[in-house]
Amino acid sequence: MSFNPKLKDWSTQRVWIVGASTGIGEALAHQLDHRGARVMVSARSADKLDKLAANMSNALAQPLDVVDLASVQNAFKRLIEAWGGVDLIVVMAGTYSEMSVETFDLKAVRQQIDVNLNGTMNILDTILPTLLKQGGGHLSMVSSVAGYRGLPNSLAYGPTKAALINLAEALHMELKPKNIGVSVVNPGFVDTPLTRQNTFPMPFLITAEVAAQEIVNGLESGEFEIHFPKAFTRSLRFLRVLPYSLYFAAVKKITAGKNQKNLSTDAKV
Ligand SMILES: NC(=O)c1ccc[n+]([C@@H]2O[C@H](COP(=O)([O-])OP(=O)(O)OC[C@H]3O[C@@H](n4cnc5c(N)ncnc54)[C@H](OP(=O)(O)O)[C@@H]3O)[C@@H](O)[C@H]2O)c1
Repeated sequence: MSFNPKLKDWSTQRVWIVGASTGIGEALAHQLDHRGARVMVSARSADKLDKLAANMSNALAQPLDVVDLASVQNAFKRLIEAWGGVDLIVVMAGTYSEMSVETFDLKAVRQQIDVNLNGTMNILDTILPTLLKQGGGHLSMVSSVAGYRGLPNSLAYGPTKAALINLAEALHMELKPKNIGVSVVNPGFVDTPLTRQNTFPMPFLITAEVAAQEIVNGLESGEFEIHFPKAFTRSLRFLRVLPYSLYFAAVKKITAGKNQKNLSTDAKV
């Protein structure tokens, strides 16, 4: 079953990747460029974007801060002026820090909500009128398996990612009848600057290039949820459907006798 129109002919695709200066976004920009798409790369680091675009064949580099609505609007205006429309928007921008009840930090909470959730809303506000007018296009939002269910040490990041999954589901139901695709990307552990801060071992760790390839495959197959690596995410998806009695017991078992910090690393039950 195909949830979305399948994205196949990349040479006709006008793509905006927000959060493309490093990590998965940078790898995705290269992969779509190799397939012939026109790609506008955005993030805050203008120098990195310029360097990236210079190594691509048909790219625009446009810095922005997703928290700053005017900068998001300005970037999208540039894309539309250059290409006359948009076919795929990938909302990749995200920030993360571990947080437990002992390390609860309201400033860091607000920062993660601002970038991960409010930033996505700023993009949505900017692109929706164009997508509706076009009667086509695809919005892909990058969430995380950390958004499936509550996990210890994820008091800020997890809730922002759970909200994105919920948002993607709602958007999909409203936009599918209008021929507009919506997908949500839920990666496991990917080796990027975001996860290099982790001090614990990360199971099934994959490279940003493999993650980008999975995203391309998911978009080409018309998937709604693009999750990977499957060996890891299948187990987590099973935990997602357990009733609370079993879910809490499973999490307790996984973390028993351990620093809770290791929960997400051992969530392969
Ligand atoms: N790596 C993983 O294991 C993993 C797992 C699950 C989900 N994810 C999600 O995947 C996405 C990409 O993460 P990544 O692992 O590739 O990490 P990353 O290398 O740190 O990339 C994050 C990107 O977001 C941009 N960004 C951050 N704050 C921004 C802001 N305020 N405005 C605009 N751009 C901003 C960063 O660029 P600038 O700093 O230049 O702005 C960078 O391009 C994130 O949403 C993350 O939550 C990652």
